[in-house]
Amino acid sequence: MTESLDGVFYITTPIYYVNDRPHIGHGYCTVLADVLARYHRLFGQETYFLTGTDEHGQKVQEAAAKRGMTPQEHADDMHRHFKDLWPTLHVSNDDFIRTTEPRHTRVVQKALQQLWDKGLIYRGEYEGFYSPRVEKFFTEDELVDGKCPETGGEVNRIQEANYFFKMSLYQDALIKHINENPDFIRPESRKNEVLGFLKKPLQDLCISRPKARLSWGIPLPFDPDFVTYVWFDALLNYCSAIGLYSDDQRFEKLWSGAHHLIGKDILTTHSVYWTTMLMALEIPLPKHIIAHGWWLIDRSKMSKSLGNVVDPMAMKDKYGVDSLRYFLMREMVVGLDADFSEEAFLKRHNFDLANDLGNLANRLAKFIARSMGGVVPTLAEGTEFDDDLRQMAQELPAKVRQLILELKVDAAVEAIMNLVRRVNRYVAETEPFKVIKTDPAKAGTAVYNALEGLRFALNLLSPVMPGKCDELLGAIGAPPVVSRLEDLKWGDLKAGAAVNLPEAPFPRHELPKVEEKPKKPETPLIKFDHFAAVDLRVGTVLTATAVEKSDKLLLLSVDLGEPEPRTVVSGIAKEYSPEAIVGKQFVFVVNLEPRKIFGILSEAMVLAGHDDDGLAIFSPLRPLPAGAKIS
Ligand code: ME8
Ligand code: MG
Repeated sequence: MTESLDGVFYITTPIYYVNDRPHIGHGYCTVLADVLARYHRLFGQETYFLTGTDEHGQKVQEAAAKRGMTPQEHADDMHRHFKDLWPTLHVSNDDFIRTTEPRHTRVVQKALQQLWDKGLIYRGEYEGFYSPRVEKFFTEDELVDGKCPETGGEVNRIQEANYFFKMSLYQDALIKHINENPDFIRPESRKNEVLGFLKKPLQDLCISRPKARLSWGIPLPFDPDFVTYVWFDALLNYCSAIGLYSDDQRFEKLWSGAHHLIGKDILTTHSVYWTTMLMALEIPLPKHIIAHGWWLIDRSKMSKSLGNVVDPMAMKDKYGVDSLRYFLMREMVVGLDADFSEEAFLKRHNFDLANDLGNLANRLAKFIARSMGGVVPTLAEGTEFDDDLRQMAQELPAKVRQLILELKVDAAVEAIMNLVRRVNRYVAETEPFKVIKTDPAKAGTAVYNALEGLRFALNLLSPVMPGKCDELLGAIGAPPVVSRLEDLKWGDLKAGAAVNLPEAPFPRHELPKVEEKPKKPETPLIKFDHFAAVDLRVGTVLTATAVEKSDKLLLLSVDLGEPEPRTVVSGIAKEYSPEAIVGKQFVFVVNLEPRKIFGILSEAMVLAGHDDDGLAIFSPLRPLPAGAKIS
């Protein structure tokens, strides 16, 4: 299903909790919103892009307490980690909302008052279980083994007076809306998940917390002993930021094009809580709720408790913001999960960006510097060129637009990279580097066309890699990124413009070293008789003492099931103290010729394995009689 480009494109991200620092999942969602916003601007649509931070609730209060700060001090400090990150990731949000700002708290109170006045909020007795991790209530049946059904974390039993929103009134209207607007929730699998959830009777929603238990929130306007439930508060950000109750005209215009981009973890809060809140407030529903998937590490979800969180700043610093954005957009199919690994990242970087795109720009620029006076050559009349390349480039903007409207961002990127690869083939076919010697005009035409193909690709890729695309366009003497895609015209590259690409735009990175498995030892095979000739026995250590003047040797007396114990001198003192081995059983070679070590005759040898940390002795998994044969 495709949507039209009429009206405004208003895109939001979740507002992130300030209990923790941003990770690559937050980075992904915000960059995806940015890429969509940039494409829509390029398609000529008026666009508005909002992100922000969710600063109330129990999680934040607890995080602040841990740092010995007030929640406000903590939020003032932590929101910076998000707000300051976005510009460094080239995120072009128009606004950043914090739920502690007066422009937001005012709207929340006004909405609450309205619902209270209409009788859509009532006071009742609450009994249930609260999961602080997801800031949600569950009934006893919803728990899984007495734990939070979403995270498996602890829940707290709660019984107290609270205020409730009559969410249950809207169940049928919501089901109807979803069925009548089949792409309201995208992708389809998520829509089905919500419809499944709505098969059970919808409960009313507890929207308050007694101040006595949780003080960090927006006070209820009709009862100062309570604060607002954090989700009721947070969801309203999408409206408070654009002028609800303060600038009707602005609000109505932007709201009519609302798209909520979220992760699949917060699908119910958006598709059920938020939509029914809007119905009660008599505000139209957003156009779309779009739920994306998880970035996984080794197939499990990134989480702080697993210690596998990827820091977007570190990735950006190591490989560059454009490569990071490219990888995030190319690797993940919107709606599905994807694995994040440095190896996968570097493969994309090396193959797509360093080889296909970077090399093309580099080779053309070097050739122009060397053989064409450092300027864009002229498209000479009468010299032939390949219409197929031009046609492919000219058809691409419409194709990219279609794919973006279908949210197939990875496919759009791939379609653009196919143009880049086509230009590479074109250069290989037309061979300007050779042809220049015999027919300079023809070589000029080939290079001009290759530059035009590259310019189309860079313009189309600019929402994904705004920094590098801009830089590269400048380097090949092309005009800056067009502000509207319809202005992208073949032939607009000006002959005579200076070409200057000082260095490789995407330096290759070495793939992280995987430890090589040691080769099979290349020792000749032996017959069983040879092996059987070695007499291996279990021995029990009776005594062990250090050998004077040696830090390596221990002197053992070992029971090998013989009338007398044997004396064994063994180089294990670095790893084992005498006390650690007395009474233990090990494996000994008992038919080696006795050997004098440090002046003492050693009558057997203990078996040990070795690595960089030293050696480890072998011991049977259960006690065996001393002298038991090993084979
Ligand atoms: O839920 N992969 O905030 P939050 C991909 N404050 N995306 C991920 C991810 C992962 N491994 N982990 C997190 C909240 N995300 C509420 C939202 S909105 C009114 C209130 C992204 O800080 C994903 O977009 O827990 C997810 O929905 C969001 O971070 C949750 O961020
Ligand atoms: Mg979360």
